[in-house]
Amino acid sequence: MTGKQFVAERVASIGSSGIRRIFDLAASMTNPIDMSMGQPDFDTPEPIKAAAIKCIQEGRNGYTVTHGLPELRKTISAKLKAELDWEPSVFVTSGVSGGLVLAMMACLNPGDEVLMADPHFVSYPHLVNLAGGKPVKVSIYDDFRLHLDRFESAITPKTKAILINSPANPTGIIASKEDMKAMAELARKHDLLLISDEIYDLLCYDEPAPSPVPFAPERTLLLRGFGKSYGMTGWRMGYAAGPEAVIAEMAKLQQYTFVCAPHMAQEACITALNSDISEQVTNYRRKRDLVLSKLEGVFEFVRPGGGFFIYPKSPAGFKSGTAFVEEGIKNNILVIPGNVFSDRDTHFRISYALSDAKIEAGCDLLCKIAQSR
Ligand SMILES: Cc1ncc(COP(=O)(O)O)c(C=O)c1O
Repeated sequence: MTGKQFVAERVASIGSSGIRRIFDLAASMTNPIDMSMGQPDFDTPEPIKAAAIKCIQEGRNGYTVTHGLPELRKTISAKLKAELDWEPSVFVTSGVSGGLVLAMMACLNPGDEVLMADPHFVSYPHLVNLAGGKPVKVSIYDDFRLHLDRFESAITPKTKAILINSPANPTGIIASKEDMKAMAELARKHDLLLISDEIYDLLCYDEPAPSPVPFAPERTLLLRGFGKSYGMTGWRMGYAAGPEAVIAEMAKLQQYTFVCAPHMAQEACITALNSDISEQVTNYRRKRDLVLSKLEGVFEFVRPGGGFFIYPKSPAGFKSGTAFVEEGIKNNILVIPGNVFSDRDTHFRISYALSDAKIEAGCDLLCKIAQSR
């Protein structure tokens, strides 16, 4: 008796056998060089921890209002006004994932299509499907730019939204201002919602990531998070900002699902928004540069500008990203095959969110494997 008969059809399509196989293989590794991480290796800054502890110890442990603590919302609004000269409706979500779920549930009717780049963050198509929509993937290989013509030709009468992510997971690529402007104009031309996942907005190493907000303030739903920037992924904090009607419906759904983001984490996020993380950004820029210098000349890749990933092509002697990753596992190094993020299996994702020594050892090993065939 497995209980399979109780499980709904909507979950059947989730989880590809490809990644299951990689994780099964990875389970047998002892003390691997793990370059598969999706979170920073630095700890939450002390003042942020202290603010959460104070909140708990002073007995503020109950629900907050669904929209989030007024003081936190005020701080977020002030930031958006200062940075983007934008005064949208704002509410606090349980991570960016919470924001994504609510956005899809609030905006999609059955069969509504959502355009997204391929490669994409792993959960996007599943969340669109769960909400009854249809994910439409637009290939942005091989340069990972937001090709306007490819997005435009994927638009149908059913298209409801474009979901963009910059800096991107898995590529680390920051979309240019021109491409953001073009996407914003495309959304306006076809009356689409532009959902902008900016979870890596503070982790930029050459220049800030342009947001589509200045180009389409009336139709951008901005999703941002605290987890990656402040080393607090487990605290489950994010925020959504955008058109009043959309935010109101997302908040209504939050009332019946997540209820509110964790109270102590909300208080701590007020401190987070006033914290300086330039030291962490400097460290991650150095890590990015270290990876680039190590892989240069051996792997083909597009230089990443933010986040903590790089997405090289699998080397010539390997028939797919998965084949290269499997060879890596045999050599005790773990990276993620591109087919987890894509309909293609030609690349693999490296995370450089780990110590410099491990980055050096990991990159040396990856180069050795690449050059072995
Ligand atoms: C692009 C992107 N969006 C959203 C998320 C989910 O973020 P959170 O942990 O805040 O739910 C991630 C996490 O890896 C991500 O890479």
